[in-house]
Amino acid sequence: MNEQVINIKDVTKKVSTGGKSNNLEILHGISLTANSGEFLSIVGPSGSGKSTLLHCMSGLSKPTSGSVNILGIDPYKLRPSKSAVFRRTQVGFIFQSYNLVPALPAFDNIVLPLRLSRKKIDKEKIYQLLKNINFNANPNNFVSDLSGGERQKVAIARVLVSNCKVIFADEPTGALDSVSGEIIFGLLRDLTEKGVCVVMVTHDIEMAAKTDRAITLRDGKLRKILDNPNAQDLFDALSEEKK
Ligand SMILES: Nc1ncnc2c1ncn2[C@@H]1O[C@H](COP(=O)(O)OP(=O)(O)O)[C@@H](O)[C@H]1O
Ligand SMILES: [Mg+2]
Repeated sequence: MNEQVINIKDVTKKVSTGGKSNNLEILHGISLTANSGEFLSIVGPSGSGKSTLLHCMSGLSKPTSGSVNILGIDPYKLRPSKSAVFRRTQVGFIFQSYNLVPALPAFDNIVLPLRLSRKKIDKEKIYQLLKNINFNANPNNFVSDLSGGERQKVAIARVLVSNCKVIFADEPTGALDSVSGEIIFGLLRDLTEKGVCVVMVTHDIEMAAKTDRAITLRDGKLRKILDNPNAQDLFDALSEEKK
C-alpha cells in the first residue's frame, strides 16, 4: 500500500566559494528513501545541511553527484516546461523564505498554482482553511503588508490546497506561535493519513518526535535514522553529536 515516493542515492553537494579550486562539499553521500503516507523529519544543528538536503531531494538544486528520484521521476532530467508542471502539481514546498509574490494579495498567492493549472477554485473552502490555521489578516491584503507568521500561513495554505503527493517543508512552523504551530503540524499529519509524503526540516525536537521517522544530520552527513522517534532519543542523538 505504502509505495516508495522518494529515493535519493549518494547525494553530494559542492558549492563554489570563489576562486578556481575553492569548492566546499556541504553534503556528503546521503542516501534516503521515503514512502507515501510517511511523515519524515530532518533534524540537526544550524548549518548542518538540512536546507541544502531538502533542496537537493526536492528537485530545486541539482546535486553535484548522486541520484534523485521522486514519484519515479528524476526531476533534474525533466525539460523546463515539464519541470514547471511537475513542481506545480506533484510536489509542494514550504520554504523558510516563504517564496510568495509580495505584490499579490494573500488569497491570490494561495490560488496561484491552481490558476496556473486551470483548476477549480473553491473560495469558501480556502477561507475556511485560513480560518482553521488562525490566519488573522485579511486575505485581500498584499503579502508585503503581512507579518512573518501570517506570511508563513499563506505559504502553508498554498501547499494545503494543492493536492500534491509529496510536500517538502523547511521549518514550516518556525515563525509561528506554538498554538498555530500545532495546528499546522496537525494539518500536515492529516495529509500523511491521506497518503501524502511529508518531509519536514525542523529544529523542534518535540515536533520531530511526533513524526514517523527522523534523520539527524551533522556537518552534511546523515548520522542516525530513528523510527518512531521519541523526544529523549532525539535529544540524546543530537547531544551525542556535540561531544
Ligand atoms: N551557496 C552556498 N555557498 C557557500 N556555502 C553554503 C551555500 N549554501 C549553504 N552553504 C553552507 O553549507 C552549510 C549548510 O547550509 P544549510 O543547508 O543552509 O544548513 P541548515 O539548513 O542545516 O542550517 C552551511 O555551513 C552553509 O553556510
Ligand atoms: Mg536551513
